[in-house]
Amino acid sequence: MDLVVTLENLVEELKERLSKADTPEALEDLRVDVLGRKGRLAQIISHLPALPPEDRPVVGQAANRVKERCAALFRERHSALLAAREADALTRFDPTLPGRAPWRGSLHPVTLITEEICGIFTGMGFEVVSGPEVENDYYNFEALNMPPEHPARDMQDTLYITEKVLMRTHTSPVQVRTMATRAAPLAVIVPGKVYRRDSDLTHTPMFHQIEGLMVDNGITMAHLRGTLTAFVRAVFGFRTQVRFRPSFFPFTEPSAEVDISCCLCGGKGRHKDESCRVCKGTGWVEILGCGMVDPAVFSAVNYPDRVSGFAFGLGVERVAMLKYGIGDLRMFFENDVRFLRQFA
Ligand code: DAH
Repeated sequence: MDLVVTLENLVEELKERLSKADTPEALEDLRVDVLGRKGRLAQIISHLPALPPEDRPVVGQAANRVKERCAALFRERHSALLAAREADALTRFDPTLPGRAPWRGSLHPVTLITEEICGIFTGMGFEVVSGPEVENDYYNFEALNMPPEHPARDMQDTLYITEKVLMRTHTSPVQVRTMATRAAPLAVIVPGKVYRRDSDLTHTPMFHQIEGLMVDNGITMAHLRGTLTAFVRAVFGFRTQVRFRPSFFPFTEPSAEVDISCCLCGGKGRHKDESCRVCKGTGWVEILGCGMVDPAVFSAVNYPDRVSGFAFGLGVERVAMLKYGIGDLRMFFENDVRFLRQFA
C-alpha cells in the first residue's frame, strides 16, 4: 500500500507548493506539473498495472480521491488570487480624481448670428416664419414684381429644377407666401438657406439670408429707418453709424441699401496706417437691402390699398464676417474645427 501513502503525500506537498504560487500564471504551471498528462499524479498511476490485481481497486479509488482533492485546492487558490488582485486594484484607484472633460461642441457662426438677429427682431415684436427652399417661379419672381424678362431670372443666377420650379434665390418669396395666407397687420422675420449658381471667393452656391416684412396701416420709411438702425446698433454696437443709400429692387419702391460705419476702422477709412481692407478706405460697408413694399406686390396678394409696409433682406454670412472679422467666405463651409471652436 505504499502507493496510497505516496498519493496522500501528494496532497500535502501540493498544499505547501500552492501557498508559494502567487500569480495565476504560477498556479497554472503548478497545475500542469501535478495534474497534467505527464504530471505527478499520472506518474504515480502509471505504476498501477504492476500491482497485484486485488490491490488495484483500493489504489485506484485513492487516486480518484486525491485527484478531486487536488482540483478543489487549485480552484480555491485560483479564486483567492483573483480576489487579491481585485482588492489591490481598488487600493490604486482614486475615485476623487477629476474626470477627463468631454469635448464640447459649439454653434456654427451662421447659427449664432441667425439666432442673435432673430432674437433682436422678436424682441421688437416680429414673428419668425419659414418657407420652402424648393420654390415656384411665381413666389420667387412673378409675385415679387419680376416679369419673365427680368435679369434676376437669368439662367446664370438661378438653379432651376424644372421650367417653373427652382431653388429659391432669396428669402423674399416668403413675404408673398405669408401675405397670401394672412391679413395685415403683420411683422415677420424669415431666416433660411438660399441658392444661386455662383461660386468664387465671395460667393457660394448656398448661403443664408434673413428677410423682414412689416405691414400695417400707416407704415412709413421712418419705421423702416428706426427699426433697421436699432437692429444694426444691437448687432454692431451703439456707436455704429447708419446710412441709407437710394437703390433699386423690383419688389420695393422706394428702395435703399443700408451701409454701416466700418467695424474695422470705425469709419475712418484707414487701419494700421493703411487703407482699410474691409471698407476699401471708404469708411462704410453695405449690410442689407430694403424698401417700402411695392404696390404691385400688395396687389399680387390682394391686400387693400390702405396698407403700407417695409421689407428688408440681409446676408447672414456677410453679417458674421463683418462682426467677427472673418476674411474668407469659404471658412463657413469647410467645417474646420479650429475655426469652429473659436465660437464656443
Ligand atoms: N431679396 C434681395 C436679395 O436677395 C434682398 C432684399 C432687398 C430683400 C430688398 C428685401 C428688400 O426684402 O426689400 O438680394
